[in-house]
Amino acid sequence: MSENKPNIQWYPGHMAKARRTMQEDMKLVDLVIEIVDARIVRSSRNPDIDKLAGQKSRLILLNKSDLSEDAENARWIAHFSAQNIGVVALDARTRTQMKKVVAAATEACREKIERDRRRGILNRPIRAMVVGIPNVGKSTFINSFSNKSVAKTGNKPGVTKGTQWIRIDNKLELLDTPGLLWPKFEDPVVGMHLAYIGSINDDIINKEELCMHFIEEILVRFPDAFDKRYEIQCEGKKPHEIMEAIAVKKACLVKGGEPDLSRVANMILDDYRGGRLGKISIEVAE
Ligand code: G4P
Repeated sequence: MSENKPNIQWYPGHMAKARRTMQEDMKLVDLVIEIVDARIVRSSRNPDIDKLAGQKSRLILLNKSDLSEDAENARWIAHFSAQNIGVVALDARTRTQMKKVVAAATEACREKIERDRRRGILNRPIRAMVVGIPNVGKSTFINSFSNKSVAKTGNKPGVTKGTQWIRIDNKLELLDTPGLLWPKFEDPVVGMHLAYIGSINDDIINKEELCMHFIEEILVRFPDAFDKRYEIQCEGKKPHEIMEAIAVKKACLVKGGEPDLSRVANMILDDYRGGRLGKISIEVAE
């Protein structure tokens, strides 16, 4: 089965439009804050961001790090730190890491802040564009990091109509952007991994097929992930047999008592997306 990976591609027109807007707005920011999913750090990095960001300062937020393995988060942090790229592991639903994010943003823009200071410009907030593929937690990040005193500073000259700056504190202003993918996933594994975490429109996916690949991949490092969650015995079973066993156990049956594999696929993927299969990093740092 691993030979026949589904070729998932999704680049709707609104993303091409959003990309053009981002290109315009890029001129207005000091920093690009890239939110990635800590479970698939490699696949959730949009290669187009490198082209769009050019020489801008960068900061990577490993979001949903509560759903990935702590040891793997640490390895990803070491991986980016070794390349001098600022990185913070995050659970965007809480504000606990806010100070760390502001500190990392300041550090990433240190040279610019110094340059400003020499020119007599003091305390100008860093302007950052928040980018990321769909469903990585951009809105959650912005909502939880902008507390009640949040000031939408409104449109500024030259900013695309409707662009809103969100002031986090007197040090940081954020520009929200829509979820952006790129025109073609060269490696089918990337499309699959993005689909696992819910960054691809579920309507274009054959979830049963996707789920079988998911099970096969998870079992390599977590052989008892499904046994524990669904109280079944996976040993020696193929992915479709595991799905059938789960269907019986959870009474996901269609008329006539046949297993409802579509429902099972939805359940398994939803459970993974919501962390109910445990902390599982799909992609690990080399
Ligand atoms: P987006 O703007 O990048 O598209 O993502 P969004 O913030 O809408 O977040 C997508 C889903 O991920 C939401 O769940 C959100 O609660 C969840 N989420 C965001 N950040 C984190 C995180 O750090 N950890 C965990 N565990 N979950 C996170 P949802 O089920 O789609 O919506 P909701 O029912 O939670 O509102």
